[in-house]
Amino acid sequence: MSEMYKPLEDLGTPEPRASTEQVSLQIDGQQIQVDTGTSVMRAAALLGVNVPKLCATDSLDAFGSCRLCLVEIEGRKGLPASCTTLAEEGMVVNTHSGKLEKVRKNVLELYISDHPLDCVTCPTNGDCELQDVAQELGVEDSRYGLTGSNHQDAVKDESNPYFTFDPSMCIVCYRCVRACDDIQGTFALTVDGRGFESRITAGQMESFMESECVSCGACVNSCPTAALEEKTVIEIGIPEKSTVTTCAYCGVGCAFKVETRGDEVVRMTPYKDGKANEGHACVKGRFAFGYTSHKDRITRPMIRDSIDEAWREVSWEQAIEFTARRFREIQAEYGRDSIGGITSSRCSNEETYLVQKFVRAGFGNNNVDTCARVCHSPTGYGLKTTLGESAGTQAFDSVDMADVVMLIGANPTEAHPVFASRLKRRLREGAQLIVVDPRKTELVDSPHIRAAHHLQLLPGSNVAFVNAMAHVIVTEGLADEAYIRDRCEIEAWQDWSEFIRGEENSPEHLQSVTAVPAIELRAAARLFANAGNAAIYYGLGVTEHSQGSTTVMGIANLAMATGNLGREGVGVNPLRGQNNVQGSCDMGSFPHELPGYRHISDPDVRGLFENEWQVKLQSEPGLRIPNMFDAAICGDFKGLYCQGEDIAQSDPNTHHVETALKALKCLVVQDIFLNETARFAHVFLPGSTFLEKNGTFTNAERRISRVRKVLASKSGKEDWEVTVDLANALGYPMHYAHPSEIMDEIARLTPTFSGVSYAKLDELGSIQWPCNKAAPEGTPTMHVDEFVRGKGYFAITGFVPTSERSTRKYPLLLTTGRVLSQYNVGAQTRRTRNTVWADQDLLEIHPVDAQDRGISDGDWVGIQSRAGDTVLRAVVTERVQPGVVYTTFHFPMTGANIVTTENSDWATNCPEYKVTAVQATRVTQPSEWQKQQEIFNRRQKAFLDKARKPGV
Ligand code: SF4
Ligand code: SF4
Ligand code: SF4
Ligand code: FES
Repeated sequence: MSEMYKPLEDLGTPEPRASTEQVSLQIDGQQIQVDTGTSVMRAAALLGVNVPKLCATDSLDAFGSCRLCLVEIEGRKGLPASCTTLAEEGMVVNTHSGKLEKVRKNVLELYISDHPLDCVTCPTNGDCELQDVAQELGVEDSRYGLTGSNHQDAVKDESNPYFTFDPSMCIVCYRCVRACDDIQGTFALTVDGRGFESRITAGQMESFMESECVSCGACVNSCPTAALEEKTVIEIGIPEKSTVTTCAYCGVGCAFKVETRGDEVVRMTPYKDGKANEGHACVKGRFAFGYTSHKDRITRPMIRDSIDEAWREVSWEQAIEFTARRFREIQAEYGRDSIGGITSSRCSNEETYLVQKFVRAGFGNNNVDTCARVCHSPTGYGLKTTLGESAGTQAFDSVDMADVVMLIGANPTEAHPVFASRLKRRLREGAQLIVVDPRKTELVDSPHIRAAHHLQLLPGSNVAFVNAMAHVIVTEGLADEAYIRDRCEIEAWQDWSEFIRGEENSPEHLQSVTAVPAIELRAAARLFANAGNAAIYYGLGVTEHSQGSTTVMGIANLAMATGNLGREGVGVNPLRGQNNVQGSCDMGSFPHELPGYRHISDPDVRGLFENEWQVKLQSEPGLRIPNMFDAAICGDFKGLYCQGEDIAQSDPNTHHVETALKALKCLVVQDIFLNETARFAHVFLPGSTFLEKNGTFTNAERRISRVRKVLASKSGKEDWEVTVDLANALGYPMHYAHPSEIMDEIARLTPTFSGVSYAKLDELGSIQWPCNKAAPEGTPTMHVDEFVRGKGYFAITGFVPTSERSTRKYPLLLTTGRVLSQYNVGAQTRRTRNTVWADQDLLEIHPVDAQDRGISDGDWVGIQSRAGDTVLRAVVTERVQPGVVYTTFHFPMTGANIVTTENSDWATNCPEYKVTAVQATRVTQPSEWQKQQEIFNRRQKAFLDKARKPGV
């Protein structure tokens, strides 16, 4: 296309899919070539020609209802709608003429006759497509009158905390309905009535809050008028400025335009060019940003000598000097290895890189770990062992090419909603789904989607399950022998296939372990193996087990055995929980690995870093998080720098964690709120939110995206600057003027990042690593011609039952997960209006188990395990199977981790959150631990209030 053309921002209809040919046509005298399947409207928009439209937008398939986009086409009768008419070879199109203007004006006047003409006082004055079209056509009045009564008397629905629906503004263009159906896949909106009487309604004539709406905001985004509008726009006014950034919640890594007015965020609009989300979002990223200005934010550093003392607000200089002095004293008294640091997947790549550098070079040891320890460390181990790289193999859009998707231990509609919407779209197009989960999650059966198989296995039987699947594939001759011969280590394949053929791995034999009927498992295995493209997506239901790493290797074995790696539509895809789990692992946050997953014992790699950092590095791995806790309780570990991570709430066996934290002589917490861990801290360093800093996050598809500063940091410093100050105060010099310089250093030292820079990120929008000379624009699909390790390795995956089994004392198995509206430990989402959907953790229990115990819906239930007990309310539901109970871990006063145990993955120490043997009983009061927490919290709150009171 000629460079003269300046395409419009909204091209009206989507890009045609899978087009291979082009057609040439003329529009308003200009010639253009477009792919077959392109609408005339899109072709015109590509030329910069604006055809008036109301029901069309390029995120939705053309609908053809408003009749504003009519055009003249030579040789055709009538005036066809340009949005539904496809471009054809030799077509000659005219988009503007006296006749067309007349027809369009008439249509618009009909709309206006039933729409309030109070643009000047309308909250979206200046941000309304109806207003734009009216101005363009010069329509200010309607010959049909202005008192149409079809919609103007309708009552506004303000039930949703984030947006309003004002039917009087609605022009019934169906964009919202189509957005909810086609983009989000929830089907919450319908049209009631016919013709001019039609009205949009949520659910069955319900309010938005009463309907199935999940508050993703896609309808609000697509609405061309103020009928669906963000409440913040009504309150603050239309935005003046927009900055592209990346969501700080989950591992999907959606791109957003942060739209501001003055120093206030008006709204977060999903960014159309964001490659992870393509203009879609979920309720968290889209609306739940209120925590960034919450009154609980702590913005000044605080120190105290003991956790039994009140906090003292101090200057940054005093806090940094106090911390450095305490760490130096501890090292002098207890040795170099007596302190360490923990990085967080909530933080940016640059921040986590600096923390591990600070620990290795400043503390002089390798006692650095990350919260990925407790979620996806088995992914790193399992995929590195089998495929050679510790990361997912595909881009998200790869799922568009999948024929069969197997979802294991993941619940994307709650935890990775934007990916779930993409997956649902593919399933509606005809791909088949196998759900492997102890719970009946939404994708098992939801509007227009029904899983071909729901393998409702028992918690703790994942390895038995993957082995049984592999047994069927190998013994029934379904393996892709040619692929294996070409791509995998033959000796390892032979050993593994001999192992997997064993009767002990047959579905019939393992049925008593998995509780999955052998006949169903065999059918699922055949469906998976016979698919053209079969893809595996998995979550924490795979990794957080005593054999988490084994299951990951078993999953890679399944993919290799069926030839489902190395192209689009297939692959092994870990759905990462937090925004930067992938990045925090990439950046060398584990005690045994330097950035780029290179072992600390490798002298060549160490030499590279020693040369750049000008310091001698320890060659032995340092302490993992659980080792730090054990060493603290033994008295060997005394000081901890914890950036952005709430270990007191998120780590298992809370009693053990709290005992360890209380044993520390200096705990430094850097966070935006006084989180649960900070109650045990001696230094609190105020953090900045993602809106207040520059950096990058890396999502679950290895996509590195920019985080851009929109607001001044409330604490006066970005988090990376604090680490730099600490390092300098401790005597290890660090000097960076901007996080881009930290990324340049990462690129210098890490082969998979060698082509990454802020300039390239700005140019390309985002980059999937590896990005280097061989792949200068990044790598969407990994292991294409060969695996990163060369030949794929089939690891033997013997099933070893967990020691955490149901007993007479603890007859139920507790497993854990997330809800859509809350995020991880809830520190952010609990401080937003998302609490209207979930304001407490609930215990799901099957009706049979509930009846046995006299438990009804809403009762207080005590759950006891060998580690501890807590009390929460019950939900009696068949989503869980008999013998299994389920809860979330978003609320500190439930303290789900008070009951989880110290059991962990054999290879990585990732905790076995997903299996805890418990008893459940009806109770009338909180547990002893909860009562103690209440007292402790009140005391710590008083200590904080004293610090904040001026003059105290
Ligand atoms: S609410 Fe908005 S998007 Fe939906 S039909 Fe009405 S005007 Fe169109
Ligand atoms: S917010 Fe999302 S789920 Fe709710 S009605 Fe709109 S598009 Fe549907
Ligand atoms: S799907 Fe994840 S990354 Fe996207 S908006 Fe929601 S929380 Fe943010
Ligand atoms: S934009 Fe084509 S009919 Fe509405």
